[in-house]
Parts: sequence; structure tokens; C-alpha cells
Amino acid sequence: MPSPHAAIAPPGYLAGKVIIITGASQGIGLVSAHGFAALGAKVALGARRGEVVEAVAAEIKAAGGKAIGAALDVTEEASVAAFVDKTVSRFGRLDGLFNNAGRDPQEHGGLADISLDEWKAVHAVKIDGTFLCSKYAIPHMLKAGKGSIVNNGSVVSERAPSMVPAPSASQSAITGMTRSMAAAYGHANIRTNMLATGLILTTERVEGYYKDQHDRMKSWCPMQRPGTSEDVAQAAAWLLSDYSSFINGAIIPVDGGHLAGEYRA
Ligand SMILES: NC(=O)c1ccc[n+]([C@@H]2O[C@H](COP(=O)([O-])OP(=O)(O)OC[C@H]3O[C@@H](n4cnc5c(N)ncnc54)[C@H](OP(=O)(O)O)[C@@H]3O)[C@@H](O)[C@H]2O)c1
Repeated sequence: MPSPHAAIAPPGYLAGKVIIITGASQGIGLVSAHGFAALGAKVALGARRGEVVEAVAAEIKAAGGKAIGAALDVTEEASVAAFVDKTVSRFGRLDGLFNNAGRDPQEHGGLADISLDEWKAVHAVKIDGTFLCSKYAIPHMLKAGKGSIVNNGSVVSERAPSMVPAPSASQSAITGMTRSMAAAYGHANIRTNMLATGLILTTERVEGYYKDQHDRMKSWCPMQRPGTSEDVAQAAAWLLSDYSSFINGAIIPVDGGHLAGEYRA
């Protein structure tokens, strides 16, 4: 697995920006935490496992960066409100939000095969979480007169595999929410964009899935490889930076060309 400390853009790219990253305890969120901090951002790291994100923040600080880590449950309004307050009290303002927290499906099958609990649990993290974090972040961005929100979505919103109906539905809601926020807050210089993320090697579970799909991937991903967390983090960093200043409401595939077409020799 690639190092979470790998550079993802030139130094100073995110200098001084205060950025909340949800789901920062592992995977894409963890790599983004180290990556954004190395680019000069002050990062606020949230996940349910507070002790893990506190330890990540301590590592970043030991390396000379600025970070706080605290327990955050994006499905709970009080938890989100407290986390955003804590970020702004510590760093004085809020420039960016990376809505990255997600929940792997625990049940697989067609829509008729999964339980209502599973359906609700996936939607709670992705839909309610993105809604709540954005809802509490936007007033601070309005006050600052600018801001950038990046929603980590998925290719499954555009092209649905049959066995994961809840993630496909919830990621489609993220495209709608992204466009709605872009339309509502663009006038206030708050940009909202979404990454349509493809298969990214993060956890052992994803790596196991990739091993099973290795041969199929040759046709369904033109670049013929899975993505890395760095691939996603650098796209997010660009959208959170001032170097994407007129990008608003975009759904950007980070998928090696999966949505574009399939490779045939
Ligand atoms: N990996 C892929 O192939 C892939 C593909 C397409 C899209 N994506 C998108 O990318 C995002 C990140 O992917 P990933 O693979 O890095 O995810 P991951 O390894 O499953 O990590 C999910 C993160 O979300 C946190 N989380 C879960 N429930 C939460 C809650 N209620 N409140 C706060 N944090 C919560 C987890 O931390 P705690 O357990 O400590 O709370 C963890 O840090 C996902 O949301 C997904 O939408 C990933």
C-alpha cells in the first residue's frame, strides 16, 4: 500500500487553509490528512474512532504540521455541530470541507435481498453525513466570503453494479446534493464539487475484491489498474485549493477512465 506521507502537489499549495476531513482514520481520508497538512493546510480530522484521528493529528504535528483530531459521528447532528465549532475555535475560520466518510456495504445482493437497516445505515453516513457537515460548515464559509466543499462520491452513482444498491443510491444523492449546493452558494464564492471515485486500493477488503476482479479490470478500467488514495487526495487538494477557482458543481471521475469507456485490444 502506498505511503500516507507521499507528496501530492507542490509545497504551499494549501497554505493556511483550514480544512475539515471526515473519515480521516483510514484509507483516502488518512492519506488526505497527511497530504493536505504537508501542503500547508491546517487540518481538522474527524471519525468515530476519536483516538485514531487524535493519533494521526499528533503525527502530523510532530512532523511540523497543524492538525486537530476528534471523535465525530457524521450521522449525529450534535456531534457534527460540536466538531465544526471545535475546528473554528481552534483555527479561527473554515475554508474547506472534504466530505469523505463512508460505510462499506455489509450486505450484498439485489435491492430485494438487503435489509432496511442496511439501506438506512449506508444512507445515514453518506447522505445525512454529507448534508449535516455541509450544513454546519457553510455558515462559516459565508462569513469568510469563500469556501470549497468536496464530496467524495463514486462511479457507482453513474454506473451501478448490481450487488450494491444502497451505495449506488446514496452516491447518486451526493451528485444531486453537489449540484444543489453549487447552485445555491456559488454566488457567495463557495464552490461544491464531487469526485466520482473508482476502485481505490485502501483496505484489505478492497484489495481482496481487486484480486478477484483483476482480469475483468483490464477491460473495465482503460488504465488497467486500481487507483491509490493519493490519486484521490490530489484531485481533492486541487478542488480545495485556489487553483480551481471557477470549478463549481463538477462531477469529476477519478477512475482511470472507467466511466469513459472500456478497453478492447
Ligand atoms: N475505496 C474505494 O474503492 C472507493 C470507491 C468509490 C468511492 N469511495 C468513496 O471514498 C470514501 C472513502 O473511501 P475509503 O475506501 O477510504 O473508506 P474506508 O476505508 O471505508 O473509510 C471510511 C472512513 O469513514 C469513517 N466513518 C465511517 N462512518 C462514519 C461516521 N458515522 N462518522 C464519521 N466517520 C465515519 C471511518 O472511520 P471510523 O470507522 O473511525 O468512523 C473511516 O475513516 C468513501 O466514502 C466512498 O464514498 C471509495
